[in-house]
Amino acid sequence: MQERARYIYAPSSSPSAHELWKYEQSCKRFSSSCIASLLTRGSRKLALYTCKLQDMAGTVGVRFLVTVVAAVMASLLAGAAAGGPLSTGFYSKTCPNVQSIVRTGMAQAVAAEARMGASILRMFFHDCFVNGCDASILLDDTASFTGEKNAGPNANSVRGYEVIDAIKAQVEASCNATVSCADILALAARDAVNLLGGPTWTVYLGRRDALTASQSAANANLPGPGSSLATLITMFGNKGLSPRDMTALSGAHTIGQARCSTFRDRIYNDANIDPVLASLRQQTCPQSGGDDTLAPIDAQTPAAFDNAYYRNLMSKQGLFHSDQELFNGGSQDALVKKYSGNAGMFAADFAKAMVRMGAISPLTGPQGEVRLNCRKVN
Ligand code: HEM
Repeated sequence: MQERARYIYAPSSSPSAHELWKYEQSCKRFSSSCIASLLTRGSRKLALYTCKLQDMAGTVGVRFLVTVVAAVMASLLAGAAAGGPLSTGFYSKTCPNVQSIVRTGMAQAVAAEARMGASILRMFFHDCFVNGCDASILLDDTASFTGEKNAGPNANSVRGYEVIDAIKAQVEASCNATVSCADILALAARDAVNLLGGPTWTVYLGRRDALTASQSAANANLPGPGSSLATLITMFGNKGLSPRDMTALSGAHTIGQARCSTFRDRIYNDANIDPVLASLRQQTCPQSGGDDTLAPIDAQTPAAFDNAYYRNLMSKQGLFHSDQELFNGGSQDALVKKYSGNAGMFAADFAKAMVRMGAISPLTGPQGEVRLNCRKVN
């Protein structure tokens, strides 16, 4: 027996990504296909859910359908809000192993060098903020465009391209021409955080890869380490992210390293810096020269994804001027204080904000392509 049911609901609540995933899984056990799409009616956004049932025994099946669909609807609506046109089961039929391939590749990379987790997380941020999460950052320069790799915030700074290449090669060997580089990067960033002790979350998938990249967009859209709080709020706001998202995402600076050139001004010129930290950093970051000498962004636990970043801010130990702006008598002080004392709240907010960041302007459907080699268009 085959039956088709269609439901339209207006969004009312915002279940978490995990709830959405749970409901979607239970729906899939009972139906052959679950298709969610977002419609706009005037100013209202509606989610249309279509469920196709196969071989289901009449009454029991229908009763279950009603229960599940009610739950699934609430979740899908939230999913539409959280993941936009993306979905959690995008490759469940076409490349069911993609998540484990990416996880294995990231586990190897992080085991070889813990910092690589930080580098991949940052690469994803720098991809999403420049014309959306479309893997444009991975494109090498060509005769027809100057890409993002050599833009100011990325040159001699973003690293890990070869890690994505290796994972992509594994994914291609398993499912040829199916999984985009943009989705691989989104999964890799999630695994990077989790492998270093941070939270995990369900990644919405279905992004396609850009056909071009823009150095000028990279220069214009990525905030610099000298940014004020107002600038940070504006630049994240331009991407649809709230000040709370911005403060949570900045917690990524609990891992990784930074070059002297990015924090020199702060350690010599800022007043709101712990003098012990300033003189410690000055030892390896002179007034001139040594631009590329590295220092941990979180001095205590640079390879652990924890909430130490916020405790650092509260003791004036933010490494970048922009970090310390989050706790300098302004609107984010209270939130920084909460995160510093509540690791669980930070982890949950970070995960939610990553899902939102991962939904910035994706290419979907017929847009873009699934690149075979992440470094060049097909
Ligand atoms: C709020 C605005 C932000 C500013 C101004 C900023 C700035 C910077 C700078 C200057 C560096 C050092 C780069 C270098 O020395 O080469 C850095 C490193 C890093 N950033 Fe940010 N960042 C911001 C937000 C974010 C976000 C949202 C994430 C991720 C969600 C992130 C993740 C990282 C990571 C993990 C590193 C270390 C990378 C490594 O060790 O390779 N940052 N950031």
